[in-house]
Amino acid sequence: MSSLSHIIVTSALLFSVVLNRPSWASTATAMEASFSSQAVELLDAAREPEFFDWMRGIRRRIHRHPELAFKEYKTSELIRSELDDLGIDYIWPVAKTGVVASVGSGHSPRIALRADMDALPLQELVDWEYKSKESGKMHACGHDVHVAMLLGAAKLLQRHHNDLRGTVRLVFQPAEEGYAGAYHVLQEGVLDDVQGIFGMHVDSSIPTGTISSRPGPILAASARFMATIKGRGGHAASPHRSVDPVIAASFAILSLQQLVSRESDPLESKVVSIGIVKAGEAYNVIPESVTFGGTFRSMTTEGLYILLARIKEASILFYNCLFGLYSCLLDLCKGILSDVPYSIIETQAAVHRCTAAIDFMEKTLMPYPATVNDEEMYRHAKEVGEILVGKVNVHICPQVMGAEDFSFYTQKMPSTVFNLGIKNESVGSTHHLHSPFFFVDEQVLPIGAAFHAAVALNYLNRRSGT
Ligand SMILES: *[C@@H]1O[C@H](CO)[C@@H](O)[C@H](O)[C@H]1NC(C)=O
Repeated sequence: MSSLSHIIVTSALLFSVVLNRPSWASTATAMEASFSSQAVELLDAAREPEFFDWMRGIRRRIHRHPELAFKEYKTSELIRSELDDLGIDYIWPVAKTGVVASVGSGHSPRIALRADMDALPLQELVDWEYKSKESGKMHACGHDVHVAMLLGAAKLLQRHHNDLRGTVRLVFQPAEEGYAGAYHVLQEGVLDDVQGIFGMHVDSSIPTGTISSRPGPILAASARFMATIKGRGGHAASPHRSVDPVIAASFAILSLQQLVSRESDPLESKVVSIGIVKAGEAYNVIPESVTFGGTFRSMTTEGLYILLARIKEASILFYNCLFGLYSCLLDLCKGILSDVPYSIIETQAAVHRCTAAIDFMEKTLMPYPATVNDEEMYRHAKEVGEILVGKVNVHICPQVMGAEDFSFYTQKMPSTVFNLGIKNESVGSTHHLHSPFFFVDEQVLPIGAAFHAAVALNYLNRRSGT
């Protein structure tokens, strides 16, 4: 045999091996190929001018009339009217203004997709045609975009509702900004039969057309406090006749900084920041009291409670509230608490002959647990994202000490949240979330709608084993 014919025969043999793979492999590959083309079709459909204009119109209407946490009445009405037009059933009200819609067979498996609806108490400083008409209120965190994308997904899924091998719940959630809307949605039991949830957040730190996330902990657990240290006011020229709360508060604030620098494992991320300090009004008066407050955060929910216990020994009521979803940690934290008899603020106040009262405001501003992406859900969404925007445009994001009430879902079921790039210099969408100059590259709308829909479709296909 000549060397050439040898090569030909060997190649033919190799080819036949490749072509005659076991049938399960080719079935799986065929399924993946058909899913890939379906996902790409979803994106193409969402990019059709008519579809895009419809989503952009929704986004702009919401942007013009932002509503704050638990007051999203008009936003909720708009969502319901669009769902009515699409012929999609929903439950309402959920947690006051929320809407939970259903598309598909009505049976298991079930996956939820989530969009938050509330705006921020912030004056918009961008001058454009759809600038907020509500003074002191702005969609500076992209929740208007989140709603429009989820309605886009609703439309895409409704077109495929006969192919859905299960049920998709579309969660239009109120009050993400500090008021734990997700917790209240879960309390109503509307997601008890759901096996997983997927969420997205626009992100101006990465370009339009890219997405990012990471498995495991992604956002911090976060809580707040306000403290009042009371002394006895008097003339600044006679400090010995007063009890100075400014000195006590100063010591307390400095001591709080040592919680992270001296008491925490340097390899575990925590932060304590004081953003509010209010005392007297005059140069020559020692005030009666000082009020100060701030936020404390940890990359783990357990870490948050350790900080909390040092800021103030917490009441059992507080634990019940916090550990509603996490009761197994209660014993752990009681153990930690028994080793921590003194709270920093109260003790520093006492050393300086003052008294202290501390308020965690947990009834209205419930602490958020850490947001932890489930590995499998993360991988699933990442693979879908790779099909939609290309492997090179899917990144691992860094952990940040921001917080998100999506965390309440992550405690309850396999969940994952992804960042969706909106940065585009030519549009001017380069400002950070919560900036009064925040601006969105609306080209993100079809990407988000298709990403939502494709994650749900693929999840149901895989879960139902077809
Ligand atoms: C930025 O926006 C312009 C105008 O819409 C568009 O042509 C360009 O492709 C966008 N760039 C990216 C990175 O998406």
